[in-house]
Amino acid sequence: MDIKDCNNTSDFRRLAKKRLPAPLFHYIDGGADDEVTLRRNTEAFDQVRLIPDALADLSNMVLRTEVLGQQIDWPVFCSPTAMTRLFHHEGEVAVARAAHKHGTMYSLSSLSTTSIEEVGSATPGPKCFQLYIHKDRGMSWDFIERCKEADFSAICLTVDTLVAGNREKDLYTGMVIPPKFSVNSLFSFATHPSWSLNYLLRKKFELANVAGKISEGTGKLTSVVGYMNSQFDRSITWKDAEEAIKRWGRPFAIKGVMSVEDAKRAVDIGASAVMISNHGGRQLDGSTAPFDQLGPIVDAVGDQIEVIVDGGVRRGTHVLKALAMGATACMIGRGYLYAVAAGGYAGVDRALTRLREEIERDMILMGCSSLDELDRSKLHRE
Ligand code: FNR
Ligand code: LAC
Repeated sequence: MDIKDCNNTSDFRRLAKKRLPAPLFHYIDGGADDEVTLRRNTEAFDQVRLIPDALADLSNMVLRTEVLGQQIDWPVFCSPTAMTRLFHHEGEVAVARAAHKHGTMYSLSSLSTTSIEEVGSATPGPKCFQLYIHKDRGMSWDFIERCKEADFSAICLTVDTLVAGNREKDLYTGMVIPPKFSVNSLFSFATHPSWSLNYLLRKKFELANVAGKISEGTGKLTSVVGYMNSQFDRSITWKDAEEAIKRWGRPFAIKGVMSVEDAKRAVDIGASAVMISNHGGRQLDGSTAPFDQLGPIVDAVGDQIEVIVDGGVRRGTHVLKALAMGATACMIGRGYLYAVAAGGYAGVDRALTRLREEIERDMILMGCSSLDELDRSKLHRE
């Protein structure tokens, strides 16, 4: 199996599973507790059906839209995800370049293995930085200044991760950072020699934005959960979010909003967007799905703030359903992570090509030539 045999997220997932040692594959793939929410995120889309129109003159298709102050060619962009260089040596830069090639935005995690500055200069495309407020507040506010210097377009503050979710697969597989050849994981590293050689010979692992500023994230061994629980500031409130918005002064999103009340609070503090998200089912298991909350949030604040859906998007039709319900755009996490693990830049290039083609085809099949023709009359709900 090669990337040319991968036509959808499931195919890339299968190839990523072959290419990655178990601790890394399951770190991407897994969710919290029993993974009920992880499954629900996609099921929620599948339980609503589309109602197409016919013979609507589809000779011209416009998928272009604006999100967080940026024009993007189609209504999907990349979620921030941690430590991409662990999955492929081309890392964050490969995903950012592929997103730019496909006319869309890339988001860089606070916990990236490539720095704000390097990603800033790797592509002129639109970039969003994901902020985790660390206990080291000075370092956290400094991220914002660094993003201004590196010409990032937007920032999103993640609010659903004050403590790490219970990802039990990481315990079974022995997922630690930096990856370590332990009793649990040795067999898996030994049976993936090409990944292991790359890991040993290429640029050394580091959490590039925090390296040298705090002791974790470079040489010191920790679990991902251990890092989050020791470094993230649990005392943050809407006041801190408001301060971050003021410091940044450009388009700003709150990522991890699930309730209508929080969406209203985001409006009150001057956010430009809410990203409805449960962190891809990695945090609170039993949480409802982003698509389940989309309708009520759009009804409450859709005329005041952009509403972005993040989680469970695997198919073009999922994007169409979200837009028909009133979303501004969708984000994908695993949708590009499996692909980068499967084949670096070339993998993400193919994954984005396929998804965009799917959306174009689905729009024609729906009888819609522009995104604003998608509305709730196109959805059949129980
Ligand atoms: C994430 N996510 C995430 N979110 C965030 O705000 N900061 C981060 O560093 C990370 N890291 C991360 C790593 C991995 C391996 C995954 C799978 C996810 C969550 C991510 O931004 C997004 O919310 C989910 O991935 C969306 O769900 P799907 O698209 O993966 O179903
Ligand atoms: C995760 C963190 C890093 O989901 O956000 O693994």
